[in-house]
Amino acid sequence: MKGRFSVTAFPLFPLNLFLPFILFLIPIILYTTVCMSLPSLDEYIGKISIVSSIEQVEAVRHELFGRKAGVMTLAMKDLAEKSPEERRTKGQELNVLKVKLEALISARLQAIATLSIDTLAEGDSLDVTLDLPVAEKGHKHPIHEYIRKAEEVFGRMGFDTASGPELETEDYNFNKLNIPESHPARDLQDTFWVSSLDRTVLRTHTSPMQIRYMEEKKPPFRMICAGKVYRKDSDATHSPMFHQIEGLMIGKTVSLANMKAVMETAVRELVDPNVDFRWRTGYFPFVEPGLEMDLRWRGDESKSREGRWLEVVGCGMVHPQVLRNVGIDPNEFQGFAFGFGVERMLMIRHQIPDLRSFFEGDLRFLRQF
Ligand code: PHE
Repeated sequence: MKGRFSVTAFPLFPLNLFLPFILFLIPIILYTTVCMSLPSLDEYIGKISIVSSIEQVEAVRHELFGRKAGVMTLAMKDLAEKSPEERRTKGQELNVLKVKLEALISARLQAIATLSIDTLAEGDSLDVTLDLPVAEKGHKHPIHEYIRKAEEVFGRMGFDTASGPELETEDYNFNKLNIPESHPARDLQDTFWVSSLDRTVLRTHTSPMQIRYMEEKKPPFRMICAGKVYRKDSDATHSPMFHQIEGLMIGKTVSLANMKAVMETAVRELVDPNVDFRWRTGYFPFVEPGLEMDLRWRGDESKSREGRWLEVVGCGMVHPQVLRNVGIDPNEFQGFAFGFGVERMLMIRHQIPDLRSFFEGDLRFLRQF
């Protein structure tokens, strides 16, 4: 059976005869359509002057001078078909036009570049009359500012500033400070033991720095060391992490009277010139005799503590055994040590009822300092 669209099925339209003719026409039709859709060479002069971006100029340049189908390129090729006379005049005309179009293109590119720099400058201008947003000013945490102040106050009294590790060995935190196995501070209830293998603890006080300092330096000396200490405690006057300022002064004739004078000067400068304080005896295995100093609450917001005492510092004359532990002869040298509770001094200074407020990160509290 013959195919439905076979040529012989349409005897009135013998496609096989016309096919070569149609194939011959297609390129001609295409060529004319393309040529007709392209502007004439002269029209490019206007076209170049209105394009507004570098990409558009480049596209026009390609339309004109593209190696295969550029309008100018084809016009030049076309010259070969012409008679010598026509080739000469037409050739001259085309050359003049070519130079003109090229000049126009580079002028346009230049203009676009300048324009974009100008627009950039406009958008980038600085209005010096504008109000700037208010710059937020921060400050150091009150504890750290206070420690710097304390270093300055003790510095004026001749004290050197030292610092030491927060992770201590049992030896430095307890043994060398004459703290016996039976002392409650060594209890699991009170101390953060980090490793039972190498017996490390988060230091429970800054006193191990007395040992570290004395092991390194030859007396006489005066030093303070401030830093974080850790104990399993938490209430309005205790926090599991708090700060202490340790002090140590060793010499040939350093006395308890010297200690009291230094500490009184410190609290008057660091808490209040009129601060009310009292001395009590206290027990610390690394001093003999041992004392404690209490400061009197004043103007506490809750009023509940008004007139009551708060212990802020333990102190005393360095125990002869502690001096021996670090190789200092107690018959030749003597001296005192103290350990201030930083937060507690600030509590009395600023009437802060709860010590934990320092560590809650509440900006309403912190911004008051
Ligand atoms: N280390 C003691 C404590 O934390 C304070 C202290 C320091 C006491 C120095 C005497 C001498 O309680």
